[in-house]
Amino acid sequence: MTDQSAAARRISELRQAIDRANHQYYIEDAPELPDAEYDRLFRELQALERDHPELLTPDSPTQRVGSEPASSLTKHPHLRPMLSLANAFSPEELTAWEERNARLNPDVRTGGYAAEIKIDGAAICLTYRHGRLVVGATRGNGTIGEDVTANLRTIPDVPLVLRGSDHPALMEVRGEVYFPIAAFRKLNRRREAEGEPPFANPRNAAAGSLRQLDPATTRSRRLRMFAFHVEVVEGEPPARTHHEMLEVLAGWGFPVETHRRRFPDLAAVQAAIPEYERLIGTLPFEADGIVVKVDRRDLQEDLGIVGGREPRWAIARKFAPEVAVTRLNEIRINVGRTGALNPYAVLEPVEVGGVTVSSATLHNEDQIAQKDIREGDYVEIMRAGEVIPQVIGPLRDQRTGAERPFAPPTECPACGQPVVRPPDEVMRYCVNAGCPGRIFEAIVHFAGRDAMDIRGLGAERVRQLLDAGLIRDVSDLYRLRVDELVALDRFADQSAGQLVAAIADSTHRPLALLLFGLGIRHVGKNVAQLLARRFGTLAALRAADQDTIGEVPGIGPTIAAAVVEFFGAAANADLVDRLVAAGVATEEPNVAPRGDALAGKAYVLTGTLPTLSRTDAAALIENAGGRVTGSVSKKTDAVVAGADAGSKLDKARELGIEIIDEAELLRRVGREA
Ligand code: IVH
Repeated sequence: MTDQSAAARRISELRQAIDRANHQYYIEDAPELPDAEYDRLFRELQALERDHPELLTPDSPTQRVGSEPASSLTKHPHLRPMLSLANAFSPEELTAWEERNARLNPDVRTGGYAAEIKIDGAAICLTYRHGRLVVGATRGNGTIGEDVTANLRTIPDVPLVLRGSDHPALMEVRGEVYFPIAAFRKLNRRREAEGEPPFANPRNAAAGSLRQLDPATTRSRRLRMFAFHVEVVEGEPPARTHHEMLEVLAGWGFPVETHRRRFPDLAAVQAAIPEYERLIGTLPFEADGIVVKVDRRDLQEDLGIVGGREPRWAIARKFAPEVAVTRLNEIRINVGRTGALNPYAVLEPVEVGGVTVSSATLHNEDQIAQKDIREGDYVEIMRAGEVIPQVIGPLRDQRTGAERPFAPPTECPACGQPVVRPPDEVMRYCVNAGCPGRIFEAIVHFAGRDAMDIRGLGAERVRQLLDAGLIRDVSDLYRLRVDELVALDRFADQSAGQLVAAIADSTHRPLALLLFGLGIRHVGKNVAQLLARRFGTLAALRAADQDTIGEVPGIGPTIAAAVVEFFGAAANADLVDRLVAAGVATEEPNVAPRGDALAGKAYVLTGTLPTLSRTDAAALIENAGGRVTGSVSKKTDAVVAGADAGSKLDKARELGIEIIDEAELLRRVGREA
């Protein structure tokens, strides 16, 4: 067998194994392959494809990782129009819908209905030719959408190649891309931590994430999708009823929402509505109702489309979001870690959708002005799904004249210093780096689980330490003594000892966590990781200029500028020096400072190395300018072999390729073992 055909065979095996694992993980929710094994297969496939670019195809699972950022999105005409849906807000409107249809074809009354959750996300259209994804597009105006194929490929739910064999030659699969609520909350928390405006709701976040020019951004957002419709353009329709078609879609590997049901008639649908209404608030994604569809495809075709826009055979039965009225007592400002002044409403507690709400975000002063929200107003509050309560607006006819319009702060409520509003931003900022409001948030962030992870140091404790004058910034934490803490309220010997120990323990965190903990603008967890891996030490990062930082893949000029600005500010530089003096670790483990010791060299890893994981060994090689490939060929410069090395080692011997061990690798990259 030639090298080429062996590679082709292995590539095909790997793709199948990875696709199977993705399906188990994302769609069946029942992963079988351990993560480490998955990573190993994935890297092997990547390496083989790198060595055999002629065998790389766009449907390879490695291609989800993303292509180069585009400069703009191109238009994509849909093969069939993407329709919208008529709405029914009450049982009567749903009945009226059946009446109208029955006048066109009385069989609808007895032909059965399918009902499913109406997912509140962004509509997408996936074109498959002979079972392979060729284009993915947004809805656009229904006739022409935007080509977001590269972005959709990064969503693991989107099948690149369909399972099974009986696929129509050409079809469009329609569905919805959505943001799981938990991921949405996390994203917004992160954006706020990084000083970026939060998304208003999961739908906007999904649509925005889908229309990114850089697929890597879409990928990082962890979007999901559900499929609910097929338009066959060439070939046989796959089923005679809608509910069967959903099963076919599931069989092809699409995620199909599980609360789909078939009902014998409309009375049965109506009877199930209260159940659906209760269900909706408990789903892990946003939904605003159900879609009721005439089940039989022949009846669907008979009924056709109204006004070129909406099918007669489907209707959205929408549930009103839960709304409540309450008094807005006060508008207060919370000072964020970046100095952003976030207005929020203090409400008279009220129950909305089964939860007592006593505050609501007001986003920014422009929104407050636009909605004309005043202190003392009676306001309508909405809680859609699981998301943060929103103020819809004031009830103007309930005003007494005593309401007070909101005056945006000119001074920081925490430190009294003047605030600024940058010309192109909607937020005001306190620019005082020593502002107690900012410092409080900064310390809470530093100690947080995703940063230095100091157990037992939550917001309340931080407040207590600040108020007692024991700390002024994060570096003071490392000087705290048990006897000082025991003197405070609510501190027993044991808890004081535990806190001091937890703080000491945090000195061993990797550089990435320290960088994230410092709260540099735009430096979230992922960016911190990239910086730490690339520079290896805090000193190297501090010494780097903006161009060097901007060259790190995944880091652009904005982030690079923010990093340089951070370390350039004297107060920050002092703080970092004090942290270093306190003994905080400043290295990323297993990452060598970048060099060119292995420039242009191709290395192959095989077997289990004594101390380095595969990922770390590969990072060492890549950081030293080398390349890691998956298979041994004449082009390989050296093979790093560990325990239980297999055929790659034999192959290296056969071709006379140099074989080295971990210690030698460490020596070559300037990291003596
Ligand atoms: S059926 C011809 N089913 O709602 C097929 N749509 O408001 C029409 N949507 O554009 C769509 N969940 O993006 C259908 N289970 C579901 C849906 C659903 C969400 C979206 C879809 C459509 C919009 C109309």
